[in-house]
Formats: sequence, C-alpha cells, structure tokens
Amino acid sequence: MRIILFTGKGGVGKSTVASGTAALAAAEGHRTLVLSTDAAHSLADAFGTPVGAEPTEVAENLFVQQVDAQLRFEQSWAEIQGYLLSVLDTTGMDPVAAEELTVIPGAEEVLALLELRLHVLSDDWDVVVVDCAPTAETLRLLALPEALGWYMQRVFPVQQRVVKALRPVLTRAAGVPMPGGGVFEAVERLHAELDEVRTLLTGPDASVRIVLTPEAVVLAEARRAYTTLSLFGYRVDGVVANRVFPTEGADDWRAGWVMAQDAVLAEVTQSFAGLPLWRSEYLTGEPVGVAALEALARDLYDGTDPLASSGLRGPFEVVSVRSGVQLRLRLPFVTRDQVDLARSGDDLVVTVGSYRRLLALPASLARLQVSSARVDDEGVLRVSFQDPTGSTATKERAG
Ligand SMILES: Nc1ncnc2c1ncn2[C@@H]1O[C@H](COP(=O)(O)OP(=O)(O)OP(=O)(O)O)[C@@H](O)[C@H]1O
Ligand SMILES: [Mg+2]
Repeated sequence: MRIILFTGKGGVGKSTVASGTAALAAAEGHRTLVLSTDAAHSLADAFGTPVGAEPTEVAENLFVQQVDAQLRFEQSWAEIQGYLLSVLDTTGMDPVAAEELTVIPGAEEVLALLELRLHVLSDDWDVVVVDCAPTAETLRLLALPEALGWYMQRVFPVQQRVVKALRPVLTRAAGVPMPGGGVFEAVERLHAELDEVRTLLTGPDASVRIVLTPEAVVLAEARRAYTTLSLFGYRVDGVVANRVFPTEGADDWRAGWVMAQDAVLAEVTQSFAGLPLWRSEYLTGEPVGVAALEALARDLYDGTDPLASSGLRGPFEVVSVRSGVQLRLRLPFVTRDQVDLARSGDDLVVTVGSYRRLLALPASLARLQVSSARVDDEGVLRVSFQDPTGSTATKERAG
C-alpha cells in the first residue's frame, strides 16, 4: 500500500493538493483513501461534501476520512490515563487540572496516525493520502512516535520491575494505587503500534511531499522542513509549487507578481534539485469538489504517475567502508556547525537546530565505537564506526 503525506506552511494548499492527488489516483482506478490528522479538518470543505470520522465514499474508488483524534486518543490512552488520574487523585489534585496533566500535547495527532496502521492491515486500499497539519505541527508529530517509543522502551520496563518489587511496601506506606498489569500492557501495546506506524512512514512505500507557494518566507520554511524530515528518516519525493500566477495576459499588477514568483521558483528549483517539482496555477476560483480537484491534479502531474515514488532511497544508510562501517544521514542544507552529535548508550543523538533525533543504532553498530564524524559538502552527515576489539578484549580478560 502506497502512503503519501502532504505537508507545508499554513494555507499553501496542502488539503487541496492532497485531495486532488487522491481524486486523480481514484480516477486512474486505485482504491484511494484520503485522511486528515489535522484537528482543523478541511477535507469536507475541499470536497464540498460532509465527511465523517469513518471512510466516506465521495466518488468511485475515492473515500475521505477525518479521523476523530480525540476519540482515538481516548481509546488508546484511556487505561493509562485512568491510572495516572488515580495517582493524582491521592495527592488531592483538582480533577480538571489532573486531567490536563495526563494529556501529552500533540499526542492526539500521533494517535490519529495509528489509523494508518489499521488501514494497512485491512488491505482495503492501494493508496492512502494523508493531509497533514501545517509544517511545524507535522514535524513535531512525526518526531513524537520515536520520542514516545524511546521513553516507553526505557522507562516503563524499569518502572515495571521497580513497581513489582515495591508494590507491597508502597501500597501500605503511601496509599498510592499501584498500576495493574493492564496498564503496562496498554503501554506496551501503544509502543508497539507507534513503532509500526513509524516503520510504515519511513518505509519504502511511504513518502512526503512538500507543498509551497512561490514566496520567500514559504520557501524558507519548506527548506527547514526538508532538513527536519530527513533528520527523522522520512523520504521527501517531490515538491509542489502551488498558486503560480499564469503569465498570459498579465496586467502590470500581475506581471509584478509573475516576476517575483519567478525569482523564488528559481530558488526552489535549486533548493530541491534532484526532486520532481510539480506546479499548479493560481486558479480563478477555489477548486472545490471532486471534478475541480482532479483537474488541478491532472494539470499538476502533467501526465506523470501521481503515485510514483521516484525510487528514492531514504535519507539514512549504513555502508561498509575500508576502515569499518559508516552511517550516513542526508541532511539537506545543513552545515557542520549546525549539527551536534552525541553517543548515549545504544543511541546516537543527532541535534539540528531545535530538533533532536534519538537514533537507535542497529545492533551491528551499537557494539562499535564512533571513530569520526563529519558533514560533507553535500550535507551528508557521515559517522564512522570502528570495532573496538582491542580494548574490549582487554576488559574481558580483566573482568
Ligand atoms: N491553485 C489554487 N488556485 C486557487 N485557489 C487555491 C489553489 N490551491 C488552493 N486554493 C484555495 O486556497 C485555500 C487554502 O487551501 P488549503 O485549504 O488546501 O490549504 P492548506 O495548506 O491545507 O491550509 P491549512 O494550513 O489551513 O490546512 C482554499 O480556499 C483553496 O480552495
Ligand atoms: Mg489543510
């Protein structure tokens, strides 16, 4: 099953382009679902028809779903939250304040993405198109499964052991309710599901498309998004320039805009060299409804396959080199002074600006030592690993 996510700055046309791509895919005979995780659902507006929290058919092969993130959140989190609330209750905290404390900001959208997992399992679709929230939220969203996973993997098993050992003592001493086995099971299930979603989204069948309008501020954000998406292992397989002014018959006012847009479009071409750049004209009215959306997408993809993933590799690679093994992470636009690298146990911690990735090293790398790291001229972070056999052998003998 093909998965395509659309992201970009607020208002650039993500929902429109996502819906158009879906409408075109459906017209070409693919069983297509377009779903939004954004709390401010606008798929219903784009299609000009009411849309439910379950897949709603809007045309042949074409279904639309606006996930009720709040409901999904309550379903996945209810048991865990129930326990947390019972603990907070013993502290005499106001229940409303306690409820607020047990909600992780942004987690609702992540849990909306769990829906993807169900759709993959269902085998009902050839393609699922995801209409995401504006860039910043989407990036936080895409980073969160990993962060939550990290937390759950490390903290909960330890806590579970501690709790088991201390249960009799604690319950008597403090009157704090101990979590039942169900809570830990719920946590583990959630962790496993989030992990699956991450694997799906970074897998070979999934890609992200960045939507922009030809404006300098929008481009700047699109470039940052490209870097951050790569940092988290998502493959970007194309850029959509939307609302491009047509040149024909332009008056002075429009001619001014055409020139300004051309300058930015030249920069867009340079910035995303190697990726397809699809263009969509500024239409004379809002493209609403299946027919208008499909027409926009036909114009956009201009005869090419809207689902093609251009056979791109992900940004992340592990390569054998003469001196050992090298981990490579493509970080477009990044220079060496913007990257910070640290090793924490089996994790490699890569920080770029305000985004931090905890890269769980594969077992084959985790036992090795980092021997050097650099960012090359193409913005590829190269971390070299070497077998520390000498030192380990000594230690083992000593032990
Ligand atoms: N090429 C276009 N020509 C004319 N109008 C367009 C075009 N693309 C989008 N629009 C209109 O622009 C408005 C914003 O589009 P849309 O809702 O798709 O943006 P968005 O990026 O999803 O916004 P948000 O960040 O709020 O989710 C809508 O009214 C849409 O119909
Ligand atoms: Mg939208």
